Amino acid sequence: MSRDDQFNRNNFGGRGGDYRGNRSSDRNSYNRDRNNGGGKFQSYRGGFSQPQELVKPNWEEELPNLPAFEKNFYVEHESVRNRSDADVAKFRQENEMTIYGHDIPKPITSFDEAGFPEYVLKEVKAEGFAAPTGIQCQGWPMALSGRDMVGIAATGSGKTLSYCLPAIVHINAQPLLAPGDGPVVLVLAPTRELAVQIQKECSKFGKSSRIRNTCVYGGVPRGQQIRDLSRGAEIVIATPGRLIDMLEIGKTNLKRVTYLVLDEADRMLDMGFEPQIRKIVDQIRPDRQTLMWSATWPKEVKQLAADYLVDPIQVQIGSLELSASHDIKQIIEVITEFEKRDRLAKHLDIASQDQDSKVLVFASTKRTCDDITQYLRQDGWSALAIHGDKDQRERDWVLNEFKTGRSPIMVATDVAARGIDVKGINYVINYDMPGNIEDYVHRIGRTGRAGAKGTAVSFFTEANKGLGASLISIMREAKQEIPPELAQYDRKQYGGHPRYGRGGYGGRGRGGYGGRGRGGYGGRGGYGKPREGGWNNNRGGYNNRY
Ligand SMILES: Nc1ncnc2c1ncn2[C@@H]1O[C@H](COP(=O)(O)OP(=O)(O)OP(=O)(O)O)[C@@H](O)[C@H]1O
Ligand SMILES: [Mg+2]
Repeated sequence: MSRDDQFNRNNFGGRGGDYRGNRSSDRNSYNRDRNNGGGKFQSYRGGFSQPQELVKPNWEEELPNLPAFEKNFYVEHESVRNRSDADVAKFRQENEMTIYGHDIPKPITSFDEAGFPEYVLKEVKAEGFAAPTGIQCQGWPMALSGRDMVGIAATGSGKTLSYCLPAIVHINAQPLLAPGDGPVVLVLAPTRELAVQIQKECSKFGKSSRIRNTCVYGGVPRGQQIRDLSRGAEIVIATPGRLIDMLEIGKTNLKRVTYLVLDEADRMLDMGFEPQIRKIVDQIRPDRQTLMWSATWPKEVKQLAADYLVDPIQVQIGSLELSASHDIKQIIEVITEFEKRDRLAKHLDIASQDQDSKVLVFASTKRTCDDITQYLRQDGWSALAIHGDKDQRERDWVLNEFKTGRSPIMVATDVAARGIDVKGINYVINYDMPGNIEDYVHRIGRTGRAGAKGTAVSFFTEANKGLGASLISIMREAKQEIPPELAQYDRKQYGGHPRYGRGGYGGRGRGGYGGRGRGGYGGRGGYGKPREGGWNNNRGGYNNRY
C-alpha cells in the first residue's frame, strides 16, 4: 500500500469543517499546511509566520476519518509464553513488580525475549548491559503491546530505554513520513538538558534503522530546530513551551503522532506544566498510545493522569510508597543556615579524596547557587553553577564541563533534579532541602544509578520541618540511619501537597537572581584546587569559548 493510500492527508479535516465554530482554515493548525505557499501565514525569506492560536480539533468527528494505524507489535517469545503463571508471579515478586490493570503481558526476563528486531537488539548488546532492568522486563512488553501505560521505577533504573526501544519498533511499522508530516513519536520532558539527553539515547538506538530525531527546546535560536523539523523527524523530543511555539507558527504539527511519551510524568502534570501539556495533547489524535514514566507517582497526579490515558496498565517497581533508590546512602544533617558553608566544605574534602569524584550540589534558588559557587571558587574548588537564569550555551557548557570531569562540582537548582544521567556522580549534596519530597527522591537519584552506589548528604534546618515526616519514611523504607535530631520532626503535617494540592506553590524558583555572573569560569585542573593558578586566573573563560 502506498504511503499516500495509508495516510491520506485529505482525511484530516477533510470536510474543511469548522472546529468549535472557528473557521478551521484560519485558525487550526491541522489545516495550516494547506496554506503553505499561499503567502498568508508565511513571510518571505524564511521569516517566522504569525503565531496562530491552537484550536482543539473536534476529535469525535475527526477520528473516523483518520487513517488507521498499528500500535500492537508484541509477539510473545516462546519461552515467555511457556512460562507458568506461578513462575511469572515469582519473577514479579523477586523483582518487586506491582501491576495494575487487566490483560497485562507477562514480563520478559532477558533481552532476547523482548522480541526486538535484530538491529535494535544489536545496539542494546553493544552497550554491554548484562540484563534488562526490572522496569524494562515488564515495561517493554507493556509498551510494545500498544496499551496506554504508566511505568514507575527508581531513579537510574533505565526508564529511558523502556520507552525508546518500543518507540523505534512503533516507528518502523508506520508509513514513511511524507513532506510536511510531523513526528510519529513525541517525547515531552521538563527541562532542556533532559530533552537533549533523551535525544542522544534515541540517536544511539535509532541509528541502525535510520530514524531521524530532533530536539525542540527553548533558550536557543529557533532557526536550526525549524530546519530540522521541516526536513522531517520521526521522533521529536521537546520541552512544552518551545513545542507550542513551533505548533503556533506552523513549523510542525502533531497529526502523525501515535506514540506519546511523558517522561517525568508527575512533573509534567503538575501545576507548572499541565496547561501546556493539555494544549499539546489536544492536538494529538486520541487513539494514540500514551506512556507515562517517573520515579515518583504521588496520588495527586493519578487523577490528572487518568485524563490522558485510555484503559491504562501500570507497573511499579519497588515500594508502593514514595521511595528512593536503595543504592544511595542517605545522610541527613540537622544544622542551621549558618553552618551550611562549613559543612559543605567538609563534605567536599571527603568527596575529593577520590580524585574521580563528581559532586552535584543542589540549592533552592538561583542566587544561592551563584553565591555557593562563588564561595567555593574563592576557596579554591573547581565549581560551576547551572540554573535557569543562565543562557543555554552556558548551561550546556557547564553540564559538559561537569560530565567530562573538568569541573567536578556542579551547583544546581532543580533544573538538574530530574532525569539527568551523568556518569560518576558519587555525591549529591542538598545544601538546601527541596520544596517537596518527590524532588528529594529525584535529586538524590542523580547518584547511585545503573547499579552504582552513591551518597546523598542533605542539610536539614528548622525551616524544613514540613518535610520531616515524609523524609523519615523514605529513609526507613531504604533502611537508612535516622539521626535523633531528625526524628523529632516525625510528625505528620496536614494540608495539601505543596505542588499538586490546592493553593500550593506552582512556580519554580521564580523571581530569583537576575544577574548573569559571566566571565568567572575557566579554572582547569582536576578535583578541588585548580592547578593552573587558582580560580580567578581565567584563561579564556566561558565567553571566550564560543
Ligand atoms: N539494562 C541495563 N543495564 C545496565 N544499565 C542500563 C540498562 N538500561 C539502561 N541502563 C543505563 O542506566 C542509566 C540510567 O538510565 P535512565 O537515565 O534511563 O534512568 P531512569 O530510570 O530514567 O532514571 P531517572 O528517574 O533519574 O530519570 C543510563 O546510563 C543507561 O544507559
Ligand atoms: Mg529518566
